[in-house]
Amino acid sequence: MREVKAFAPATVANVAAGFDVLGFALDSPGDELTAKFSDQHGVRISRITGDDGRLPLDSRKNTAGVAVHALLNHIGETRGIELLLDKKMPLGSGLGSSAASAVVAVVAVNALLGEPLSKRDLLPFALEGERIACGSAHADNAAPSLLGGFVLIRSYTPLDIVPLPMPEKLHATVVHPHIEIQTKDARGILKQQVSLSNAITQWGNTAGLVAGILMSDYGLISRSLQDVIVEPIRSILIPRFYEMKQAALDAGALGCSISGSGPSLFALSDSMETAHAVARAMTLVLDNIGIGSDAFISKVNQTGAKVLSIA
Ligand code: HSE
Repeated sequence: MREVKAFAPATVANVAAGFDVLGFALDSPGDELTAKFSDQHGVRISRITGDDGRLPLDSRKNTAGVAVHALLNHIGETRGIELLLDKKMPLGSGLGSSAASAVVAVVAVNALLGEPLSKRDLLPFALEGERIACGSAHADNAAPSLLGGFVLIRSYTPLDIVPLPMPEKLHATVVHPHIEIQTKDARGILKQQVSLSNAITQWGNTAGLVAGILMSDYGLISRSLQDVIVEPIRSILIPRFYEMKQAALDAGALGCSISGSGPSLFALSDSMETAHAVARAMTLVLDNIGIGSDAFISKVNQTGAKVLSIA
């Protein structure tokens, strides 16, 4: 085998109440990466497309490269490897761009090496990529990008990942306003302490959301899609956030909040038709103030990262 091409999807992290502990995968967009054996020693990123030249080709500074270094060190692999990354999603968008790059890289390289590790065991290496990109190894993008579906990170030390079954009717709308927010910055503005009353509200909603997902109880999901801790702070970075959120709810969404660290917003709906209506309502708010946007509508992606071709 000489080369493997793989795909890893974009993700919605936090999902309102679950800061750093909940995320789900979208069908698209996502990143693609080709991994090949190389005569040159070490890990070399020979090409990145779709980033306007902004991402480092140095494999020790690039999220995909760092993740692959961590994987190769772990399994003691010394053959040279070349990576070609095709970014097919916006950077700094709140859609888990860095996580998708790290995940697609470890999935492709693991397949190139004959799958020495299971998919699930690749997560810690992808998180090393997140650490270099965002300054923190949060798993709420990388875990759903890798595994697909809705994922709960019950604990970080030790890592305890709980994939959740997905209610059949749930559809996601993601609207990406054409502005950029770096996760590092969006984390930097958060308070380090929360009040007990906010904590009570938040963990009630986190548990309610998980229970609603497990029981396919759309009313409970809707009531639980609330974030009293992070959204009030980060929403100031997103023009017309509350107008867009209200437009989504008025169009029939079960709930709406910031996707990951923003500026994208996500909404969940109980039908594809509603998800489309929600997208129209939200983008109209941005159109009216002259901010361009993209909308992505998707069921929850149940597969996660996958190998596209082996040659
Ligand atoms: N949970 C992370 C955050 C996700 O909100 O900072 C970043 O995409």
